[in-house]
Amino acid sequence: MNWNIFITREIPKEAIDLLKANCDTVEVHEGDSLLRREQLLEKVRGRDSILCCLTEKIDAEVLAAASGVKGIANMAVGYDNIDVKAATKQGIPVSNTPGVLTDATADLAWALLFAAARRIIPADKYTRAGEFKAWGPMLFLGADVTGKTLGIIGAGRIGTAVAMRSRGFGMSVLYCDPVRNDFLEKELSARLVSLEELLREADFVSLHVNLTPETRHLIGERELGLIKPTAYLINTSRGPVVDEEALVGALQKRQIAGAGMDVYEQEPRLAPGLAELDNVVLLPHIGSATIATRTKMALIAADNLLAMLRGEPAPNCVNPEVYKRGPKGHSALQRTTTAEHA
Ligand code: GLV
Repeated sequence: MNWNIFITREIPKEAIDLLKANCDTVEVHEGDSLLRREQLLEKVRGRDSILCCLTEKIDAEVLAAASGVKGIANMAVGYDNIDVKAATKQGIPVSNTPGVLTDATADLAWALLFAAARRIIPADKYTRAGEFKAWGPMLFLGADVTGKTLGIIGAGRIGTAVAMRSRGFGMSVLYCDPVRNDFLEKELSARLVSLEELLREADFVSLHVNLTPETRHLIGERELGLIKPTAYLINTSRGPVVDEEALVGALQKRQIAGAGMDVYEQEPRLAPGLAELDNVVLLPHIGSATIATRTKMALIAADNLLAMLRGEPAPNCVNPEVYKRGPKGHSALQRTTTAEHA
């Protein structure tokens, strides 16, 4: 079709091939480098749709530059990189990729949990460096996981999947969420508690909330002060959920035992001092980074984008209210949208 789309990062080939088979012009920003702001503003102009990643800030200015688009497909489950309110105002549908990355992200949360508890990274470095001279009764002593208490903050899809994996380790599960999770209560006898109770009681606190104004710095100095000195904090959600400077302070003072982080407040920058600590495991935001998962995410983003181009509701639209007025690209309804805005 005579569609012109822009993909802001190199994504799995299967999705690019699908889009190339359906669109006349598919431009991909290749390589590892991020688009500079001016490049992004320039590249989105005159496109029919954009497929972007969480590394692109799609704010009102970018949306204005991309004013002709029929939709924005984000290749991520989180979409805090997009000003959805502004997109809705312009009648632009926005989609995400829920569901397919739940297991990969839950697996990674557990990888971080074990790596932090059992000091896997320093132990690996020690072994590689040839320092392993003999088994030692006091060598790399860590913390038990089996039988301990897991605290899940945000018991949605990923939080639930993380909790379910604790079954194999005979853990007690506490969770904190505005909505009761009957499934977790039935399957694991999980207990819904206040944030304060969870922080005071859990041996492992794992974060699984969306980033919203309410969850920004959900875990700050006060909350870190409530966590047990023997407990660990795991974050595979979004960096700004944790006040990273306060976390560095808590880790430096050994106020908590350790942390496992996949996300950062000012990604890709780390808070000063974080990288020098040996009681934290640091990963470069790879929660969903398996070949199969990223391929599925890219294909879902491509399917959403094609639906938006055809003027059909995107299967994973996060602002379905745009369809009440008609998505961009649906000519009859679009006139209504424009009239409404005038
Ligand atoms: C990754 O962080 C995602 O939101 O998909």
